[in-house]
Formats: sequence, C-alpha cells, structure tokens
Amino acid sequence: MSSRKTILRGSCRPCVRSLRALLAVSLCHFISGYSDKDRAHDLLSKYPLIDGHNDIALRLRILHNNQLSKINLTHLNNVATDISRLRAGHVQTQMFAVYVLCGAQQMDAVRLTLEQIDVVRRMCTEYPDFELVTSTEEIRASARKQKIACLISIEGGHSIDSSLPALRMFYQLGVRSMSLTHSCNTPWAESSSKLYDVFLRSNNSLTSFGKAVVDEMNRLGMIVDLSHTSWGTATAVLKHSKAPVIFSHSSSYAVCDHSRNVPDSLLHKLKKNRGLIMVNFYGPFVSCKDKAMVSHVADHFDHIKRVIGAESIGIGGDFDGGNSFPEGLEDVSKYPVIIQELLKRNWTEDELADVLRRNFLRVFEEVERVRDQLIWNKPSEEQIPLEEVANPCRLVLRQPVLIAV
Ligand SMILES: *[C@@H]1O[C@H](CO)[C@@H](O)[C@H](O)[C@H]1NC(C)=O
Ligand SMILES: *[C@@H]1O[C@H](CO)[C@@H](O)[C@H](O)[C@H]1NC(C)=O
Ligand SMILES: [Zn+2]
Repeated sequence: MSSRKTILRGSCRPCVRSLRALLAVSLCHFISGYSDKDRAHDLLSKYPLIDGHNDIALRLRILHNNQLSKINLTHLNNVATDISRLRAGHVQTQMFAVYVLCGAQQMDAVRLTLEQIDVVRRMCTEYPDFELVTSTEEIRASARKQKIACLISIEGGHSIDSSLPALRMFYQLGVRSMSLTHSCNTPWAESSSKLYDVFLRSNNSLTSFGKAVVDEMNRLGMIVDLSHTSWGTATAVLKHSKAPVIFSHSSSYAVCDHSRNVPDSLLHKLKKNRGLIMVNFYGPFVSCKDKAMVSHVADHFDHIKRVIGAESIGIGGDFDGGNSFPEGLEDVSKYPVIIQELLKRNWTEDELADVLRRNFLRVFEEVERVRDQLIWNKPSEEQIPLEEVANPCRLVLRQPVLIAV
C-alpha cells in the first residue's frame, strides 16, 4: 500500500512542469492521496506536541554526571533525546522528569532531586531553543516564539521526604507536576511495583498524610500524576482530588497486562475526574513482549478511545526511560510515525489535535483554575506522624544539650 503510494507520488513530479500544471498536480494529488505521512507532519505543525514524560535528565546524570559544559544538547549520542530530534518530532512542550532512585528514599533523595531540577533548569535556560515554563499561558507564549517549552515534573513522591514545606519549595523552583510514587511505596502512598518491600500497609493506599499531599498539590496548582502508583492509590486519589489528574506515561492494561498500565475500571474513573492518560511507548509496556511495533502502540490508543474517548488521551513517550522502544519509534524524532498510524486507523484530525496538545492544556488549565479557587487557603501545616517516618537519617529535633567548657 505505502510503496504504491510512493510510486504514484513519484510520478507527480513531472506533471508540475506540464502546461496544465495546476490541474495535473491536483489530479495527481487526488490519485495518490494526500499521504498520511504528509498529513501527520502538517497536523503536527499546526498542533505541535505536548509530551508528558521524558527521562533525558536521568541520562545526563548517568552518562555525563550532569556536566553540561562537556556536551552539546543539539546533538547527543547514545540517548533518544536531543534538540535536533525534538524539533524533527514536532515536540513543542516537554514535561521533563526529575527522578532519583528509590534507593535514595530516607537518604539523600531531596538533594538528588534538587540536582536533577538544577540540570533541567540549566538545560532549559542555557539553550535558546528551550524555554522554562510554569503555566498554560507560558506554554502558549513559547509556542508562538517557536520555543520548546520545558515543564518540570518530579517522578516519585519519595523526593519530598514526607514534607509539605519541601513540596512547596519544589513548586517555587518551577515544579508543576509530581507522580506520587515511583517503584517504591512512600510512607503515604503505594506503588504499582512490588520491587521494594518498604512501607507495606494493608488497605491504606493513601494515608491521611497522602491526602494532605494531594490537597496541597491542588492548592498550589501542581498536577497530580498517577503513573507508577498502585490501583488502590490511584482510586483513592481520583476520589479525593479536587482537580483533574494525569497518568503522565501509562498505557492500557486491557491491551497489555503490565502493572504499569491502567485498567478500564480506572479509566472510567479518570474520565469522571476529567483527567488524562498519556500513552507510554516503552516496548515492554505496550506489547508485553521483548519486541514491539508501532501497531502495538496504536492498539493502546484505539482501545482507550473506545473506552473513554479521545478527549481523555495524551502522549507520554517515556523516551530515555528505558532502552527498548518499538521499531520505528526509537527516539523523540519519531512522533509523526504514530500520528501517521492513527490517521491510517481513521482517527480524525480533531481527535488528534486533542491528543497532541489541547487535552493537556485543558487539564492543566483546570488545575490552575482549582488553584485560583483555593487562593484563600493557607499553606498546609500538616505533618506526617513521626512513627510513620522514623529512621536513622531523620533527625529528631530537640533542645541541644549545651556543654559548658
Ligand atoms: C552546539 O552545536 C550547534 C551546531 O550543531 C552550534 O550551533 C551550537 O553553538 C553548539 N552549542 C554549544 C553550547 O556548544
Ligand atoms: C483495613 O485494615 C484495618 C487494619 O489495618 C482493619 O481493621 C480494617 O477492617 C480493614 N478494612 C477493610 C475494608 O478491609
Ligand atoms: Zn516512569
């Protein structure tokens, strides 16, 4: 099918020079069809992508010890993300994850998170292609300036060390979203992964402090991200949050039954919350096999659309979060490929414009509106009970014993 189109397209070229050029061109166009590839690129030019999750900051830590002076982000080897490929992929806004390993929980997670925020802030201020943004208004303005807008998102609630003041200070540094867990439970929320057996609680997937975290995020205007949380936690948050929430990089459990994916029952609750699921491209999550194809990813889009509609769907590619991406979707330059596939599957341009950026802007705007409604609420002084976080790295504050010399 596609090779036939190519042949027909090729034959259009000489037509241009003929006397009845205009007629011939439009005739050729009619015969060959305006290819899905062209349509995908045109659509992305008109509605450039807002992507929910990218892990380049983690790669900068692993490969370059965050030393930006030693590299050029325009072209980077051994990673899936650089400026030239973001441009080729029509990425206009990228939510950059700041992530630290679960092993840092109750140790130096806060410092490591600050260092990841620093590297994203440096990346997004030292390169004129990027612009650091913190609101929907700034996203729109950066699109008009042809910039790639950077949003900062904390991946894993262990980054705040069970402290609302720490959460607020992260907000001050520009963080506008946080996933409540990564692969470890926190003292107040539960992970979808059983990789670390820490903070195990039965039937208490969002503690009273966990609800205070969600409340404070609602008050600040920080998007609550449920990717990586357990179904119990996601259910509790969907019931509790005053603002819409997102799954920044998760796919459909009905299509591939991986614990990182979202079951239909939760999708229905997400729709009621007016939230968003941003489809993850990572191979093992989309095909449940070693190898994945573009069609596997498209199956997730089709299924979620059938269940809750295109107005609840976004894209969270998860590039640089792992090494196994579908054939044809290996890096951030490849977004047009999935759009092309969805066009082939009869997704309308209106649906795809929603998926590419309008849904995310609507959700973030609603989060901002809830913040504005809560403007008279004071910062929460809720503290986690000490017995829920007691550990040797947490100083118990008490009067110092002064020794006279
Ligand atoms: C990175 O490389 C591009 C060309 O590929 C060049 O224009 C730019 O000045 C370089 N930036 C830095 C910070 O070295
Ligand atoms: C939840 O767990 C507590 C003990 O931790 C128990 O008393 C309670 O009955 C449980 N509730 C449900 C609904 O299972
Ligand atoms: Zn992740």
